[in-house]
Amino acid sequence: MSNQRTMCTCHNIARERFQSACEQGAQSVKSCFKQMGCMPKCSDCIPMVRAVLAQAKKTS
Ligand code: FES
Repeated sequence: MSNQRTMCTCHNIARERFQSACEQGAQSVKSCFKQMGCMPKCSDCIPMVRAVLAQAKKTS
């Protein structure tokens, strides 16, 4: 069992995967999803993805 926190429940994507997408150069919500080979569905996770992007920009 993984204890990673799922951020996008539609696609079962953990926060850590969004963080690594940002580290690999994703600059937007769309490009984060694109790196994972999918697109947002319900958009509930978008504010959290934006927060991860903002955090990544601050620390880079
Ligand atoms: S929770 Fe991410 S698109 Fe629905």
